[in-house]
Amino acid sequence: MVDSMQKIVSFSKRRGFVFASSEIYGGFGSCYDFGPLGVELKNNIKKAWWDEMTKKHDDIVGLDASILMSPKVWKASGHLTAGFADELVECKKCHHRFRKDFIKEKCPDCGGSLTKPKKFNLMMKTFVGPVEDEASVTYLRPETCQGIYTNFKNVMQTMRMKIPFGVAQIGKAFRNEINPKDFIYRTREFEQMEMQWFCEPKNAPKSFNYWKKERLNWYLNLGIKKANLRAKEVPKNELPHYAKRAVDIEYKFPFGWKEIEGIHNRGDWDLSNHSKHSKEDLKYEDYFPHVIETSVGVDRSLFAFLCDAYTEIKGGRTKTTQSAKQVEVMLKLDKSLAPIKAAVLPLVKNKPEIVKKAKQIYNLLKPNFVCQYDESGSIGRRYRRQDEIGTLFCITIDFDSFKKDDVTVRNRDTMKQKRVKIKDLTECLRKQL
Ligand code: GAP
Repeated sequence: MVDSMQKIVSFSKRRGFVFASSEIYGGFGSCYDFGPLGVELKNNIKKAWWDEMTKKHDDIVGLDASILMSPKVWKASGHLTAGFADELVECKKCHHRFRKDFIKEKCPDCGGSLTKPKKFNLMMKTFVGPVEDEASVTYLRPETCQGIYTNFKNVMQTMRMKIPFGVAQIGKAFRNEINPKDFIYRTREFEQMEMQWFCEPKNAPKSFNYWKKERLNWYLNLGIKKANLRAKEVPKNELPHYAKRAVDIEYKFPFGWKEIEGIHNRGDWDLSNHSKHSKEDLKYEDYFPHVIETSVGVDRSLFAFLCDAYTEIKGGRTKTTQSAKQVEVMLKLDKSLAPIKAAVLPLVKNKPEIVKKAKQIYNLLKPNFVCQYDESGSIGRRYRRQDEIGTLFCITIDFDSFKKDDVTVRNRDTMKQKRVKIKDLTECLRKQL
């Protein structure tokens, strides 16, 4: 696991995982872009979550609601009121602003004294249509789940769902954070994977415990080390405005234990409030179902997976080459998350027949797996480059490949190599993924 923030930030940029947004203009407001490897990793995390929710459980269906919703939604949900606000203080000298709970008595930038705290709503405001007046104000959603509540009846009726059932959704959310910080940990634009489990009120406590366990296991099954994961009960006085009970799943980042997912018992807060404000009856039979929510940030979990997989090997793993004197980096991502499944490497690049065969193999694998073709540098150097980004298999084409119509497949974790017939290669890799 990574031991410093600076290492993981520079690794993420150097290997094409995460770039600062608008970098050529000096960056912008703690926004980040996911590079070619970052987007593969992100898509793999989303797929792992989606499959876990909708394939493993036949009583969970999916939804993709819009980011912009009627402002009435945010009134009913409590987000427009003080419920969704942080306390902000301003330095009287340099006028920098901070979240009150992040700092002590003095300004951390200049030591100046601070104003009294005032509430700052975290919703991002925008206008719908050409006129920028109060009537056209709406907000970018600060959490994705409200689209699930407003579609509760649509989903239930069209899919003939019976309580208990769940609705899963992945999508962008926005919060005008006062102090976005810690790289992609706290940003103003992020993606959430949320599942709302609708159940009978009497079953809510049992469902809560079930989902807490399921969610912890999801991370462990995807390779997060047990010692770096924990569940923390949120004290009553710190509960979000909608929750009766909350447990944070926390990961041990280089900057400390931090929340990556929230499990919430939202009771009937959302359905009863939307019923009241919209005048639509959102009851199931004669009661409001209670909601157990699991809510995880894609970016935050990606950050945790990256930190956990990042491994430094002093002296390197190969003892036969010069690299033995350096620190080698390996990304031990789970096979389902690794951005590149296979790299195709011609042993040498100055033999046209080897290069031609390697390109044929690359074209054979490409439709089935995310692959890279790399012919530059020594073979040892190319193996290390692939280990560093977590590539599962390196496939080498050498002179023997012509005689035997086979290739060498090197395993990332064991470094063991075995020869595989080209006709069996796709199936051989598929079996191991
Ligand atoms: N619907 C409930 C909800 O949104 P939350 O605890 O406010 O609950 C859930 O957020 C998850 O969303 C967090 O655990 C985190 O992973 C992610 N998240 C929240 N704010 C974030 C931010 N500013 N930047 C990145 N991820 C964030």
